[in-house]
Amino acid sequence: MDDLDRIVEIERLCFPEEILFTRGLFSFLLRNATAIVACDNEEIMGFVVGYLSGRTGVIYTLDVHPDHRRKGVGSALLDAIERDMKAAGAKRFRLETAISNTAALNLYRKAGYVDGEVLRNYYGYGKDAVRLWKEV
Ligand SMILES: CC(C)(COP(=O)(O)OP(=O)(O)OC[C@H]1O[C@@H](n2cnc3c(N)ncnc32)[C@H](O)[C@@H]1OP(=O)(O)O)[C@@H](O)C(=O)NCCC(=O)NCCS
Repeated sequence: MDDLDRIVEIERLCFPEEILFTRGLFSFLLRNATAIVACDNEEIMGFVVGYLSGRTGVIYTLDVHPDHRRKGVGSALLDAIERDMKAAGAKRFRLETAISNTAALNLYRKAGYVDGEVLRNYYGYGKDAVRLWKEV
């Protein structure tokens, strides 16, 4: 919970206003889901949040501060939460991202995720998402 302010700050740098997770939601997630931060000394560079739904590990959000991108931070966070959820019994992973989010799609496909269903208007009218899956 000590990291809540920085998490909210990074979220605002990562996503447009209309789809931002609220401070209240992060406060709930930090208490009830799995959250991992990546730090450079004391500074948080990014974070990932997920939860286990049965045997499915759901990656809920992955955010890297713009100053720290393309250094492997996002991939390392994804790997860390997958390991954590695998140890807790996950047999597969699931996540959603905007079809237009090339950076995220490249990262997830590189990490072994496979495209699944297209979710029309998932982020608002005309903003489709794709659900991706990875088997353990
Ligand atoms: C998507 C995001 C998490 C990537 O984090 P990152 O730390 O920069 O990612 P990595 O350095 O681990 O990159 C891993 C691979 O992803 C791909 N990738 C990452 N950023 C990319 C970009 N801007 N354009 C194209 N491919 C990209 C590349 O294949 C990269 O491997 P490479 O650097 O060897 O080419 C980051 O851009 C971000 O926070 N974006 C805003 C929030 C978001 O969209 N989150 C994910 C959707 S929920």
